This record gives sequence, C-alpha cells and structure tokens, in this order.
Amino acid sequence: MIHASRRLDRLPPYAVAELAVIRQRLLARGVDVIDVSAGDADMPPPPPAVDAISEAVRDPAMSRYAYQVGLREFRESAARYMERRFAARFDPETEVLPLIGSKEGLAHLALAFVNPGDGCVLPDPGYPAYLGGAVVADAEIIRVPLRPENGFLLELDHLTPAQLASARLVYLNYPNNPTAAVAPRDYLERTVETCRRHGILLAYDNPYCEVTFDGYRAPSIFEIDGARECAIEFHSVSKSFSMTGWRLAWAVGNARLIGPLRKLKSWVDTGVFLAVQKAGAAVLDRAESLIAPLVTELAVRRVATAEALGALGLSVERPKATMYLWVRLPQGVEATGFAKHVLEHQGVVTMPGTAFGEGGEGFFRIALTVPSDRLRQAVERIGAVLERQG
Ligand SMILES: Cc1ncc(COP(=O)(O)O)c(C=O)c1O
Repeated sequence: MIHASRRLDRLPPYAVAELAVIRQRLLARGVDVIDVSAGDADMPPPPPAVDAISEAVRDPAMSRYAYQVGLREFRESAARYMERRFAARFDPETEVLPLIGSKEGLAHLALAFVNPGDGCVLPDPGYPAYLGGAVVADAEIIRVPLRPENGFLLELDHLTPAQLASARLVYLNYPNNPTAAVAPRDYLERTVETCRRHGILLAYDNPYCEVTFDGYRAPSIFEIDGARECAIEFHSVSKSFSMTGWRLAWAVGNARLIGPLRKLKSWVDTGVFLAVQKAGAAVLDRAESLIAPLVTELAVRRVATAEALGALGLSVERPKATMYLWVRLPQGVEATGFAKHVLEHQGVVTMPGTAFGEGGEGFFRIALTVPSDRLRQAVERIGAVLERQG
C-alpha cells in the first residue's frame, strides 16, 4: 500500500481549491453562481501587459529557461518601483528575486530558513500558504489569534518566552487578508524591534499595498528602521494589476536573506516564463496610472457591499485597504456550515472564516471580485439564508 506523507496529513484540503470544484459542479447544473470567494477580480489585465507578452512570445529567446536570475528588465523595474513607491533602494542583481506568484515564495521560505521543530509564527486567521510552508518544513506551528479588539494585529509580545525563543520565522500581512486590517507604524516598529532582538525572520507579505482607499497609503516594511536586518518583503502583480493567473511576484530584501530562498528555489523550479516577466516589467514602470482605475472600481464595490450588508444588520467597517470585507456572523452561527448553506441553497460562493484557521470562526469573507450589482445580489441571497436561520 502506498501512503501519502504524514506531513500531508497535517494539512486540511485547500479551501479555495475545493470551492472551485463545487462551483464548477453548480455551474454545470445551470445554477446562477455568484463567486465572491477567492481574491481573483473580474477586471482584465492592463493592456501594456497583454501587448508586452504578445510581443515577447514571438521571440524564441523568451521560450528558454528563466532560472532564478530571470529577466534583468523585470528585476530592475521591481527595484525602481520599490524606490519610487517606498524610497527603498535594492540591488536588482542580489536583492530582488522573481517568484512564480508570491504564494510559492511564501511557502518555500519556510523550507529555506526553518529547521524541523523550529517555531513558525502564523496569524490566525491567515493566508493558508503560510501554514502549508510551515507544515512542509516540519516546523512547530505557533498560531497567534487576530482579534477585532486589538485591530487584528499579530502581537509578538503575546507569545510566551519559550515560544519567542523557538521562533525562527513570522508571517505578517498588512493590509491583511482576510480581515482587511491595516498596520499602524508604531506596531510595525515594535514588531521589527522584537524580530531583531530574537533573531526572527520577518516575512512581510504585501500583495495589497496598492489596493488602498480613502487616501490611506500602505507602507513597505522597509520604511521601518532596522527592517533590512530581519525582513523579506513579498510583492505580487496579482492583485494590483488583476493578473492573478500570470503567476508573477518578487521577494525583496538583503542579499543574505534572499540568497537562501534563491538557492532553495534553484533546486525545485526553473523560474518564471520570461515573457511573463517582460509583461511584469511593462506594468511596474507604469504602476501608478495602471492601478488607479482598478482601485477606483474596487472602492465603489466596497461601498455598495458594505451598505447592502448594513441593511441586513451585518455592520462592517469600510476597509481602508484590500479587496475583502470580513463580516461577523450573528451570534451562534457557525462559519463553515453557514458558507456551505449559502453555497448550496443560494449559489453564492463566500469564504468561511474557518478556511483561514480556527481564529476565523464566527466570520465570513466577501471578495469584491464581481460588479456592484452582483455583489448586492450576493448579499441579498446571504440575507435570505440569515432570515431563515434567525
Ligand atoms: C495575503 C496573500 N498573500 C499572498 C497571496 C498570493 O498571491 P500570488 O501568489 O497570486 O502572488 C494572496 C492571494 O490571495 C494573499 O491574499
């Protein structure tokens, strides 16, 4: 008998992938499905990306292996973006590493830095790939609950001295998925300070830094003094440019921290399709103007959805960032069962809070990935379920 590894037994099925299967089944049955589960917006990618890749695929050189070094043009445009946007200078040769989407880099990071039994600190609820990476690296998982009463901030000071001593890696993500929380500067300062003091690698996952509203500007961790000593930051073209399927992101940080991730990846992948990197370079140099219309549309959707939820008595704060609304369920309504019910009886695919960890119990997430009228319709259908349950 051939068995999967015990390590795999420590991971539940991946929620979004499971939902995609159910969604297909419902669509095949002719159900009018509204999918607000994955952070995968319906907006098209920017024309410069499409033009750049169309031209690049005709160049046979683009069909060769990319390796980790990738396309110089992409690394340089990522470095220029970091400098323009965050006043943070990085060497495109040694400090910028192309990734096959940030999920890949985030998960592999644990294998590059964590020994079996080392502590890996994860937000709960949190983006599931952190858990994937930590489990595959045989880490000791240290979950820190994110609660509304402390602004959904992962406070390292809440760990026990033993946990702090064993921790090698912490995943931090603000603007946050799934809670849509943002991090105040003093929080980032004390977190960087704690990581430096305890020799903890800070993985700052920043794919939503451009998806911000009402004048809020999301920082880079490298705007904080001392971060270069202890942090790697992850950026992605997925959300900012509506290019989720293209699989392009980058890790940035000092060469001592980027090096091990590059080495690990050189043994497990051969880089991102060069034509995709060409497209990435094309959009990053025009980031500000290309992102603006996407964010304007998401802002409108956010207000429409928050208002519709408010009318149901589900009050949500209008988030300052991200493409998500994190909605508290009425007392006693259990997240997984509720999401299943909404899906099977109303054809609305939401994310149960528990898909992001036990800490997500009592919440569900709506992604602003369909137009406002469809979002309102989705909320109405959710309301019909709540009415019957209440
Ligand atoms: C917090 C967070 N990090 C990383 C990712 C992965 O993005 P990608 O792999 O498309 O770059 C996502 C996607 O939903 C996310 O929400």
